[in-house]
Amino acid sequence: MLSNLVLIGFMGSGKSSVGRRLAEMTGHRFLDTDHRVSTRTGSSISSIFARHGEEYFRDLETEILEELLGVCGIVLATGGGIVLREKNRELLHRIGTVVWLDADPDTIFERVRRNTKRPLLRTEDPRKTFDELREARLPIYEEAADLRIDSTGLGHAHVAQEILRSVCKLQAANSPTS
Ligand code: S3P
Repeated sequence: MLSNLVLIGFMGSGKSSVGRRLAEMTGHRFLDTDHRVSTRTGSSISSIFARHGEEYFRDLETEILEELLGVCGIVLATGGGIVLREKNRELLHRIGTVVWLDADPDTIFERVRRNTKRPLLRTEDPRKTFDELREARLPIYEEAADLRIDSTGLGHAHVAQEILRSVCKLQAANSPTS
């Protein structure tokens, strides 16, 4: 049976779009931590950051992951900073196979630049902030992930296929009968 799939990666790496595709392909239910945070609080991510700060937002992320323990048949797209807390990394592993969606920085920056929803990038020099955040987080994604998929130049459906192929291979390698 296919495990739950958990998508991590930097903002703009395509976690939600690819996650939806994966859900269609597998019959798993698609869930998104940012979406859950917003519906729970009745606020956008930007206004949660503005009104209550990042730590409050991170607490909500942890709460949502805890609630998903034991839930089967899901594809979970996560916010880019969810891996920052060690507790969250542990929870993500308990929820499912953790797939790091990566792409080359220019491609990712082009995607996030056009979108005003990312409060952490609302700085004087968004590209500099982006590069610094990405640099600091790369080793954390690496540590948190079971698999890394490079989506540079690939469409969402193609990325979703690559993920499935790699996850199935990993599951087969880890199965007791192999
Ligand atoms: C964040 C990424 C965002 C959202 C919040 C914080 C981050 O999600 O959770 O703005 O710390 O990288 P996306 O990765 O979906 O943009």
